[in-house]
Amino acid sequence: MPKDTLSVTDNRTGKTYELPIANGCIRTADLRQIKTGPEDFGLMGYDPAFLNTANCTSRITFIDGDKGILEYRGYPIEQLAEHSTYLEVAYLIMHGELPTKKELDDFTFLVMHHTYVHENIKTFMDGFRYDAHPMSILASTVAALSGFYPDAKHVKDARARRVQMVRMIAKMPTIAAFSYRHSMGLPYVYPNNDLSYVGNFLSMVRNIGEAKYAVNPVLERALDVLFILHADHEQNCSTTATRLVGSSEVDPFSAVAAGIEALYGPLHGGANEAVLRMLREIGHVAKVPQFMKKVKEADGPKLMGFGHRVYKSYDPRAKVIKRMAEQVFEVTGKNPLIDIAVELERIALQDDYFVKRKLYPNVDFYSGLIYEAMGFPVDMFPVLFAIPRTVGWCSQWEEMITDDEQKIARPRQVYLGPKRRDYVAVEKRKPSST
Ligand code: ACO
Repeated sequence: MPKDTLSVTDNRTGKTYELPIANGCIRTADLRQIKTGPEDFGLMGYDPAFLNTANCTSRITFIDGDKGILEYRGYPIEQLAEHSTYLEVAYLIMHGELPTKKELDDFTFLVMHHTYVHENIKTFMDGFRYDAHPMSILASTVAALSGFYPDAKHVKDARARRVQMVRMIAKMPTIAAFSYRHSMGLPYVYPNNDLSYVGNFLSMVRNIGEAKYAVNPVLERALDVLFILHADHEQNCSTTATRLVGSSEVDPFSAVAAGIEALYGPLHGGANEAVLRMLREIGHVAKVPQFMKKVKEADGPKLMGFGHRVYKSYDPRAKVIKRMAEQVFEVTGKNPLIDIAVELERIALQDDYFVKRKLYPNVDFYSGLIYEAMGFPVDMFPVLFAIPRTVGWCSQWEEMITDDEQKIARPRQVYLGPKRRDYVAVEKRKPSST
């Protein structure tokens, strides 16, 4: 039997250490015993951007990036996208198991009866400029919820935690729809709890003057599947932001607001917005080869919607979305930009530059085309990502808060700045070169 340890010899001292290996990891804290002398702080791991550092154990989402596998609580994403609904998946992610019929009915009732927001939230949202990006309205409003629910600070209380999680899942579509209506100068539409989770969201976004908004079932199902695909994705940038901020034991609204802000960036959930802008800029299939040439130049643009830190093969979510685009276009009419996207993908999958770097379409490559066909402006794309990811952020936050091994997150640094020096009076200072 091989021993589950790693032997490390420090060539500075000639000493050998045995470090335990568990779950394919050594603990970097075990490196601290490796010292050149009593004054030495001990060896650390240096890993900018956490390329090879696990920050937690988790039982929620499994990804095998080389094989293109994504599972929530063990269930393959393709099966969930085909057979499940977003609220059922949300229950699964939160509770660890698929619900029985009664459990799902109770959960649906609970979520659909927390969809209203305090009237003062509307006043708060009205304070934004008419042209504010809906993602900044969303993030600020979610952060503001902690001011409305003071019990949210009881993060060690299991019941209080679940109440805030349900509140967030329930209210996110309302706040998202209100931020859209605000940016369009339209009156807010209140939730209609008789509709489905997604149908109610579409109603709050689209309804103008109808007593009950008639939701198109194909678009409702398409958005529900998109929500399933975006529900969680283990330790990505926004989830890590949520966990790190939450580790200070701040309330979950503040922690999730940090996740929303992280998602907003163009390298993360803002990428679907960037894809659409890129496709529009290319403008025509004939211009694709010219654009691809630029992408490969040293200072060229990135092919947005391509590449992933974890997936080194086709993102399984992108496969489902590409197939679904056809069903949506049958209802909405074809989005002309799809031809440009398909041609970009065709060239990229054959081109040595992309093949060598294992760059494949990610979840954002085709989702924007569907959102646009459904009539959403590009500013709303990251918001449409944030709504379903809420259950992932909340569940990851709760897993962190209940994990006895976790403490306030506090990485180390390697200091490379000036050594100690004495203060110089202003009249004696020389101009610096920078
Ligand atoms: N277009 C062109 N070249 C790319 C792309 C791209 N989209 N992505 C990576 N590369 C190249 C890099 O330039 C680098 O080339 P080099 O080895 O010659 O220097 C190589 O591929 C490796 O790329 P890294 O940046 O090291 O990969 P990393 O894992 O750090 O980045 C990321 C992953 C941020 C997703 C990156 O692929 C990217 O910027 N993609 C475009 C933005 C995007 O679509 N983001 C959405 C990701 S999915 C999500 O967050 C939901």
